[in-house]
Amino acid sequence: MTATVTSESVEPGEAAQPATARFPDGFVWGSATASYQIEGAATEDGRGPSIWDTFSRTPGKVFAGHTGDVACDHYHRYRDDVAIMADLGLQSYRFSIAWPRIQPDGTGPVNTRGLDFYDRLTDELLGQGIQPVVTLYHWDLPQALESRGGWASRETALAFAEYAQIAYARLGDRVPTWTTLNEPWCSAFLGYASGRHAPGVQDPASAFRAVHHLLLGHGLAAEALRAAGAGTIGITLNPDAVIPVDPASPADQAAARIADGLHNRIFLDPLIKGAYPDDMRELMSRFTPLDFISDGDEKQINQPIDVLGVNYYTPSYVSAKPGQPAAPEAPGTEGISFAKPAGPVTDMNWLIEPDALRKLLERLHNDYGVPLMITENGAAYPEVPAPGSDEVHDTRRVEYLDGHLRACLDAISNGVDLRGYFVWSLMDNFEWAEGYAKRFGVIHVDYATQERRPKDSARWYADVIRRNGLE
Ligand code: FCB
Repeated sequence: MTATVTSESVEPGEAAQPATARFPDGFVWGSATASYQIEGAATEDGRGPSIWDTFSRTPGKVFAGHTGDVACDHYHRYRDDVAIMADLGLQSYRFSIAWPRIQPDGTGPVNTRGLDFYDRLTDELLGQGIQPVVTLYHWDLPQALESRGGWASRETALAFAEYAQIAYARLGDRVPTWTTLNEPWCSAFLGYASGRHAPGVQDPASAFRAVHHLLLGHGLAAEALRAAGAGTIGITLNPDAVIPVDPASPADQAAARIADGLHNRIFLDPLIKGAYPDDMRELMSRFTPLDFISDGDEKQINQPIDVLGVNYYTPSYVSAKPGQPAAPEAPGTEGISFAKPAGPVTDMNWLIEPDALRKLLERLHNDYGVPLMITENGAAYPEVPAPGSDEVHDTRRVEYLDGHLRACLDAISNGVDLRGYFVWSLMDNFEWAEGYAKRFGVIHVDYATQERRPKDSARWYADVIRRNGLE
């Protein structure tokens, strides 16, 4: 696949049209959301509680006590939201299914009213010519499963495969692309090591058990979906672009290797090469016996995947710093500093570095050789409409997206097999521990009235899609 730069043919005396940097034919343009972040309707039609319902109700865990109870009310407004997507010219939409709508207790009886919602959503999308991309797990674990050990328990992996088959049996005839997990790094390390995310556990041994059971759940589900006839199967990671602060320093390089292991290789190696890396086995065994890894598990995890989803926002800078305590979300990183250099940041205080995305894509392509899809990329900025106006001038978001799409084009020119791009997010939504305080949408949501207003970035993105490229 090659990206091309063209300019329209110029008649004598005419000004040259701006050059267009085009994406390959067939490149897929979409946007992404997740169930708990947008749906609301938290107790409707038989939905059971998830770990995020519990966590967001625990004082001090989420900004200002915000919850996903109402969120963007997408559960009731999905038709209007799909119409907005159609207006933007989106070709594809990545959404997640809330497991607690399908199996309110995590296992056992199926709640058909929950399936009915995704059935309606799927048909609405297809009716507008928008291809659905399903994520089976975007962090809203049924609370009943957490109460029995959550991802630290092997039972959850088996339950996930059962749930995946239930969802596929209902939607598989119309949904072409199935993603098992979203960012298992966050589920394991923010959920069970730092406790910044649900379920809020702070126990490194549980975090490593969670890594394994998430991967095993992926492997069991992927095999079952394949057997059931699923066309395109993938998993979405948030691989980290790890950069040694001093690339010439062996100590910084060694620190970067550990950070890369904990964030990237611990997932990618078993998924794609069929075995945990030796250094990560050694690191894990400092915290827990590895008896949770049974014979055959790594083979089970190593299912063929058709696409690897990449969520990218910001790189990590890593250096050796004797005496530095381990980062709470990175057990075993004593003596390693994750301090970032000064530079432009988004409203999340995330450093903006598009070229780190190019390097990351090239690294994934070279080391793992699987087709890639950007399943999330975007930026939080606080702009809202001025009083009395419907317009949101989110110029910095446009610049962020433009810069990262150029990085994608560069990666494609350098031979990376990148199949598509999904902007995070379609609309402002519940940003986990930040509640509604951070706005990632290209559509503005007024939470008091639930009105949606396209920001400048939405109009800009629609133009990108229309011309399949950047000016
Ligand atoms: C990712 C999550 C997504 C969203 C963005 C900002 O880690 O997958 O739900 O919160 O970050």
